[in-house]
Amino acid sequence: MKVLITGGSGQVAGQLLPGLVGRYDVRGCDLVDGDLSDAHTAAKLVDGADAVVHLAAVPEPDASWADLIGPNIRAVTNVLAAAGRAKVVLASSIHVMGLHRGRPVEPHWPPAPCCAYGATKAFAEAAARAHSHRHGNSVICLRLGATTPTPQAGQSAGAWLAPADLQQLVVCALETPVRFGIYHGVSANSAREWSTTNDIGYRPVCDAATHPDPSSSAGVWEPCQPEREL
Ligand SMILES: NC(=O)c1ccc[n+]([C@@H]2O[C@H](COP(=O)([O-])OP(=O)(O)OC[C@H]3O[C@@H](n4cnc5c(N)ncnc54)[C@H](O)[C@@H]3O)[C@@H](O)[C@H]2O)c1
Repeated sequence: MKVLITGGSGQVAGQLLPGLVGRYDVRGCDLVDGDLSDAHTAAKLVDGADAVVHLAAVPEPDASWADLIGPNIRAVTNVLAAAGRAKVVLASSIHVMGLHRGRPVEPHWPPAPCCAYGATKAFAEAAARAHSHRHGNSVICLRLGATTPTPQAGQSAGAWLAPADLQQLVVCALETPVRFGIYHGVSANSAREWSTTNDIGYRPVCDAATHPDPSSSAGVWEPCQPEREL
C-alpha cells in the first residue's frame, strides 16, 4: 500500500514513521513540497497514494482563526478532495472534546472544543464524515492526545500517547475495513480521562503513570484558558 504522510517533517510524523516504514511504501511531504491549502498542490501531492495519513496542520491551541483557516480548514478539504476514494487517516485532537467534564470522555459524545484549534478539528471530523458518506471509502479520525516520546511535566497523565501506541493506532486505522470512525488516541494510562473505546483493534499498552522517566506528569486535563481575542 502506498501511504502518503502529510506534515512529514513534524513531531508526530517523527514518532510515527519508524512504525510504518518497511510495512508500507511510505512517502512524506511537508511545506517544502507545497502548501496543502492550495487545491492544485494538494492534488499533485496526493496523486498515486492508496492511503493518506493527514497530519499537516497548525497544532496550536492558542492559534487564531486567521492562522488556522488555511492549514486546518482549507488543507483538510483539499486533501479529502484529492484523496477521492483512497483511504484517509486524519489527525484530530482531544481539544475537540476539551470542555467535557465527565470522565472518561467517550468518543461518541458531541464535540465540545475548548479553543479555535479544537473547533477546526471538529470541522475536519465533520468534513471527513461527509466525504466518507459521498465516496464510500474509509476515513478514520484519530483524536490524538499529548504525542511525545515520554510523558511531559505539566501535561495531563491521561492524555499521553506513546510512540509505540501511536504507531499501533495508525496501523489499525490503515488496516480497518470500518468506513468511518472517531477514536481517542491515548495510551493505556491509569488516569482514565479519555476512553479508548474502538472497533479497529487498537489495544494500547503504555501508561504515563508507570513510565520510568522522572518528569512523568501526574496532571489532570484542563481545558484551554482564553488568553486573547481570536
Ligand atoms: N503533537 C501533539 O501532541 C498532537 C496532539 C494532538 C493532535 N495533533 C495533531 O497531529 C498533527 C501533527 O502534529 P505535530 O505536533 O506533528 O505538528 P508539527 O507542527 O510538528 O507538524 C505539522 C507539520 O505540518 C506542516 N504543515 C503545516 N501547514 C501546512 C500546509 N498548509 N501545507 C503543508 N504542510 C503543512 C508543517 O510544516 C509541519 O511540519 C496535527 O494535525 C496536530 O493537530 C498533535
